[in-house]
Amino acid sequence: MSGTTQGFVPPPYPYDRLDSLKPAAQAHEGGAVDLSIGTPCDAPPSFVVDALASSVAERGYPASIGSAAYREAASAWVERRLGVQVPPAQLAACIGTKELVAGMPHWLRLRDPSRDTVLYPAISYPSYAMGAELAGGRAVPVPVTADGRSDLTAIDPADAERALCLWINSPGNPTGHLDDLGAAAAWGRSHGVPVLSDECYVEFSWEGPGATILEHGLDGVLAVHSLSKRSNLAGVRAGFYAGDPDLVAYLSEVRKHAGFMVPGPVQAAAIAAWSDQGHVELQRARYQRRLERMAAILGAIGVDAPMPSGGFYLWASAPEGDAWGLVRRLAEEGGALVSPGEFYGPDGEGFIRVAVVQPDDRLELIAQRLGVA
Ligand SMILES: Cc1ncc(COP(=O)(O)O)c(C=O)c1O
Repeated sequence: MSGTTQGFVPPPYPYDRLDSLKPAAQAHEGGAVDLSIGTPCDAPPSFVVDALASSVAERGYPASIGSAAYREAASAWVERRLGVQVPPAQLAACIGTKELVAGMPHWLRLRDPSRDTVLYPAISYPSYAMGAELAGGRAVPVPVTADGRSDLTAIDPADAERALCLWINSPGNPTGHLDDLGAAAAWGRSHGVPVLSDECYVEFSWEGPGATILEHGLDGVLAVHSLSKRSNLAGVRAGFYAGDPDLVAYLSEVRKHAGFMVPGPVQAAAIAAWSDQGHVELQRARYQRRLERMAAILGAIGVDAPMPSGGFYLWASAPEGDAWGLVRRLAEEGGALVSPGEFYGPDGEGFIRVAVVQPDDRLELIAQRLGVA
């Protein structure tokens, strides 16, 4: 088939823009240490992998909404860890959360074709804005305050009237901030806009217990959760969304028609993962240690990297605001790949994001190469 694309043209994938720096990092003895993407590198628990292999769930179609056991395990985790009771009927499966984030505006537009706007934090995970584009809608960033929170007072009333949803992300990627989920829920209710709270880093909350928007009532809100980060299962693809009964019912029906299904063996593995907390405690300790070590390494080369309130990223302002200069320096001198803040929106310019997903000995390699071991 020939011809030019008339409509949406996919932009370059942000991380592909680091490709030109990879040879310099790889040239170091021991190779590149990739801290650019938030992909877990630690092993998932073996009992989860065993459950994946032994489910005998390969033959039949899995329930799109998730099996009763899947929804019960997720709901039990919400109650145990976040202190909120969510009836399993108000919770449904998703195939990891990126597909849900990117698909949501499309389904919300089917539900209310009079609206077209996605509100999302101005410094954030790129898929919130991409979802609006994929649905042919408008992506309107909500300014963030210096501490990373969405400034809801800055939302133009005209945008609120057209809003399909407001995304909130706490602990946030990339800044590691904790947002005011009660204020977000209240804003959504008073403006008639669903608030979608991406809480996939909640297990890595460093200043007290993890928080969910569901604490502030289920009406008009959805919490979105994933096993990718919590249980090092990004390759398995399992998550869920929970909250407002009408929204969950609508989305799960639409998604059933569209054929979204978490594979049966994955559902079996997910049940095992949601039901165990020990492996998460081990992972929390790993990330905390690595955040501290990497912050010290950056500090030793003159880059101030404060500890985040949550998540496993360091968000550091680059000397003289030259983020690409710092990204290049870390690749060339440290053999480390990190991402420039502009990957997370124009307001992220001047910052870098460092994902502490590599083992301790790999971080030590960076320190040695930079001469600050
Ligand atoms: C804020 C945020 N939301 C959602 C996701 C998607 O994760 P997954 O699709 O693996 O559940 C990510 C992944 O990096 C993320 O950082």
